[in-house]
Amino acid sequence: MIITAFPETFLTELTDRNDIVEVVGSYVRLSKRSGSNLFGLCPFHSEKTPSFSVSPDKQIYHCFGCGKGGGVINFIMEIENLTFPEAVEFLARRVNMPVPEDTNDKDSKRRARMLALNKAAAQFFYEQLKAPDAHEAHAYIKKRRIGRATATNFGIGYAPDSWDRLREAMKQKGYTDFEMFDAGLVRRGKNGGFYDAFRHRLMFPVIDVRGNVIGFSGRILGDGEPKYLNSPETLVFNKSRNLFALNLAKKSKSGYIILSEGNIDVVSLHQAGFDSAVASLGTSLTPEQARLLSRYTGEVIIAYDNDAAGIKAAQRAIGILEKLDLKVKVLALKGAKDPDEFIQLKGAEAFRNLLEASEDQLDYRLRTVTDKYVLSEPEQKVAFLKEATDLVAQLPGAVERQVYALRVAELAGVKGDAVADEVERRRKRKLSAARRTQEREQSRPERQHQPGDKKLRYEDPASAVAEEGLIRLLYLDPALADSASLPPPEDFSSAALGRIYAALLERARHGGEMNTAALSGVLSGEEMDLLVSLLQKPEQLQRGEIAMADYINRIKERKELAAGSGDLRALADKLRKKKGYEG
Ligand code: CTP
Ligand code: MN
Repeated sequence: MIITAFPETFLTELTDRNDIVEVVGSYVRLSKRSGSNLFGLCPFHSEKTPSFSVSPDKQIYHCFGCGKGGGVINFIMEIENLTFPEAVEFLARRVNMPVPEDTNDKDSKRRARMLALNKAAAQFFYEQLKAPDAHEAHAYIKKRRIGRATATNFGIGYAPDSWDRLREAMKQKGYTDFEMFDAGLVRRGKNGGFYDAFRHRLMFPVIDVRGNVIGFSGRILGDGEPKYLNSPETLVFNKSRNLFALNLAKKSKSGYIILSEGNIDVVSLHQAGFDSAVASLGTSLTPEQARLLSRYTGEVIIAYDNDAAGIKAAQRAIGILEKLDLKVKVLALKGAKDPDEFIQLKGAEAFRNLLEASEDQLDYRLRTVTDKYVLSEPEQKVAFLKEATDLVAQLPGAVERQVYALRVAELAGVKGDAVADEVERRRKRKLSAARRTQEREQSRPERQHQPGDKKLRYEDPASAVAEEGLIRLLYLDPALADSASLPPPEDFSSAALGRIYAALLERARHGGEMNTAALSGVLSGEEMDLLVSLLQKPEQLQRGEIAMADYINRIKERKELAAGSGDLRALADKLRKKKGYEG
C-alpha cells in the first residue's frame, strides 16, 4: 500500500519548514494562555470565545468547539478549500520548495489530462460560434441581449447539432474516448459506441478560481427540456464546491459578492457592470460554497429568483452564510422574476438602487414573517407577535434586540415596552433550555465518549475508549506495533477507528515516523479530525506496554460480548463494574 504519492522525505521537509504556528497565524490571531498551546477564534465555525488551539510541539491544531483538527497540510486543505496535493503545492510555494514530479500519482496525471481536455473542448465550443451552422446560437445570444465582449469574457460557446463533431475534434488532439467519457463530454450508446453529450446548446464553461475549466453547463436554445445540461461529477468537477463565475467575481473591487441562481442572471449582471455576481451550479447553496465565498468577501448579497422556491432558497442560504460570520443582505426584486429580467426591464441604474436599498437579513426575515399575516385580524396579530418576538430574541446584541422589538411593536400597533419585555423573556427561556440540554448531554456517560462528528458515532463506547487508547499509544510510540498480540483492525467496534488504526499500523511497521502530514494522504478529513481529537487526551508512555495490554484485553472482551446475546452482555457489564474496570 502506498501511504502517499509524495516522497516521505519531501513531506517531512515541507512540514518542517512550514511551522504550523506561522501558517495558522497568518489566518487566525493566536495568543498564549497557559501551557505551550496557543489559542484563537476558530476559522471553521463562528464563535466568540477562543476554542481553537495550536500545539507548537505536536505541530497540530484542534478546535474543541467544532472538532476540526489536523496538521499544517490539513489546515491549508480546509481553509483554502484545496485537495491534498494542492495544499502540498501551496505550502511548497510558500517556502520556495520545488514539488517533486510525481510519476506514481495516477490521479494527478488523470486530473491534468482532464483539465487539458476540458480546456480544448471549451476552445472548440467557442470556435464553433464561427461555424456556418451556428446561426441559431447567434440568434439566441442576441435574443438574450448578450454582447460580444460579455460572451468572450465568459468563454460562451456553441455545441453543434451533431453526434460526433466534438469527439472527432478531440480525437485529432490525441484524447481517447475513455478520457472524454471520464470528463463527461461523451456518452456511451447501447451498442457500445460513444457520442457527444452536448448537442445544439449554448455552452457555459465552468471555471474554477485558479482558471481551470472544470466542467460545462449547456443551455437549450429557447424552450425545451432539459433547460440545462451539466457536466456530471468528475475527478475535477464537484458542483457543491464551486460557483459559476467566481473566477471573475473574485477580482471585483465592489467589496461584496452577489449570489444569484442562474447562469444567465450572472452573465447579465456582469454585462450591466455588476462584476461580482456568481451562481451556485444548479443546487441550493452548500456550506462548502459558502466557505469558498468567505475567502473572497465579507458580504454576500442574495439575488435569487422572485418566486416561492427562490425565497425558500434565500432563507436557507442566509442560515449557511451567517454561520461564517458573513454579512448577508437580500435583494427585493420587485416586478421581475429574476435579476436578468429586472435589468432588461428596468436597467442597470435601477438595479444599482436596489443594491443600495438591499435589506439586512433580519429585516428580510421580519418582512417575510409580516407578509404571512393579516395584522388587522386580532388572532393573526397574536401569531405574528409570537413568531416575530421569537425571531428578535435570537439576536445576540441587547441594543439590536431593543431596536427590533420596537419595530415589531410598530408593525403590530402595540406598546413597545410590552414587546421588548416579551423578547427578553423568550431569550431567557431559550438560554436556560439550551443550558439544560447541555447539562443533560454531559451527564450521560456514553455521550462523553462520542466523536464530535455524528456520522462516526460509536456503537460501543466502552470498546471505543480502549480503541482510542491503542491508537494514541501507537501514534506516540510506533515501536509498540511490533507486539504480537495486537488485534486486527476488524476487531474494532468503530469502523472509523479501525481505519485509523490500520493506517497507523501500516506506517509503524514500515518504520515510518508518525506525523499528520503523511497520514493526511490516507485518512479522510473526518478521520483526521477524530485522530487529532483523541490525541488530545493524556496517555502515559512510561507504562505503555501495560496500558496497551489493558486496552487490547478490553477490545477483545467487548468483541466477544458483542458476539454473544444481549443478556450476557448486560451481565458482563455488571461484573465489570464490580471489578472496577469502568472508567
Ligand atoms: N439548472 C440546471 N438544470 C435545469 C435548470 C436549471 O442545472 N434543468 C441550473 C442552471 O445552472 C441555471 C440555474 O439552475 O442557471 C437556475 O435556473 P434558471 O433560473 O431556470 O436558469 P437561468 O440561467 O436563469 O436561465 P433563464 O433566464 O433562461 O431562465
Ligand atoms: Mn433564472
